[in-house]
Amino acid sequence: MRSTVRYSKSFLLTAIAAISLTVSACSAKNDETVDTTDDMRAFLAGMPKAELHLHLEGTLSAETIVEITNRNGIDYFTTIAEVEQALANRPPGLMGFLEHHFKSQNVMQTRQDFYDATYSLIEKLHENNVVYADVFFDPQAHTSRGIAFNDMFGGIDAGRRDAEAKFGVTVNLIMCINRERSVESAFEMLDQAYSVREKIIGLGMDSGPEYGNPPVKYEDVYARAREEGYFLTGHHDVDVRDSVKHIWQSLEIIDIDRIDHGLNAIDDPELVVELARRSMCLTGSPVKRSTDPAPQDVDRIRKLDSAGICVSLNSDDPEEFETGYLTNMLILFQEASDYTKADMTRLVLNAFNAIWLPDSEKDAYIAELKKYAVANGVEWNNVTLN
Ligand code: ADE
Ligand code: ZN
Repeated sequence: MRSTVRYSKSFLLTAIAAISLTVSACSAKNDETVDTTDDMRAFLAGMPKAELHLHLEGTLSAETIVEITNRNGIDYFTTIAEVEQALANRPPGLMGFLEHHFKSQNVMQTRQDFYDATYSLIEKLHENNVVYADVFFDPQAHTSRGIAFNDMFGGIDAGRRDAEAKFGVTVNLIMCINRERSVESAFEMLDQAYSVREKIIGLGMDSGPEYGNPPVKYEDVYARAREEGYFLTGHHDVDVRDSVKHIWQSLEIIDIDRIDHGLNAIDDPELVVELARRSMCLTGSPVKRSTDPAPQDVDRIRKLDSAGICVSLNSDDPEEFETGYLTNMLILFQEASDYTKADMTRLVLNAFNAIWLPDSEKDAYIAELKKYAVANGVEWNNVTLN
């Protein structure tokens, strides 16, 4: 799929050790002058982008939540202030994040709610010059509340169809297993999706906790999904217990096609070598809460990038983090990393390279990116590096 230079294992191990020693001291990767001015922001805003790691349920704005709670007669999150306060007061960590995430996703009940959420997400993607997106959705989170799979999926699919036509963004859907639920429930989800499987590009995983719910728990579900034609992705939030071990499982047992998050891979040089050998792409997501001084994981992303790993930037749950949608995330990451325009272009190129589309379609997106970057003074050789 992706054309990359293959490095020898010993070269990579030596290089990774060197990168670990020097990366915090070094800034950008080439001679281009670092530009953190309005010019850089405009460059990042106008850049055609791909977004590969975005949970529909994390894209509900406070306004949308309140609109939905009011029309559904729900007795919480009835004002924008209440939603904002709940967001600000979330407990730290993944489980604290999920507590709020579940509460806000549960306002969605009708086909119309799912339609509206999807349509307004795609409108936001368009405002961010995202031209291609993979969007995760969590059927079990909704069917377990008594919502019919067909109502949920019908709303999402119709919202996608109408917004794609209106805004010219291409959107594919990735159905996620909620990892803390049962294997039987995941199989049931595959059954429910069977008749619409051609409208769903991939099977992924999310929710938590990850510890106690490793990829191998879903080995048989993933195997059936593969047979049914889905691409597969593993979801490995950063700094959860046994992350590295789970990434190995996703690679070696599940044989996934892409990894969501997975940035702890940098902690295991052998794993970095294996990712490079497989040309495996990681969808990084350097989110920032209002209490964080800077986006998380900038150093890890820089190290993986320096090691030649295909890592991209993605907004994950844009309405639940201060980083927001992709343009703002790119700006915050650039400011924290001092990456040049060429470096930022490479991270976006990585996302286009990781899309599950035929090469001819990927190449068309990449040609547009190249045209944009070169027109803005970027030396393409500094983008690709390899
Ligand atoms: N659901 C939405 N975002 C998630 C994340 N980052 N990890 C696990 N589950 C999620
Ligand atoms: Zn995620």
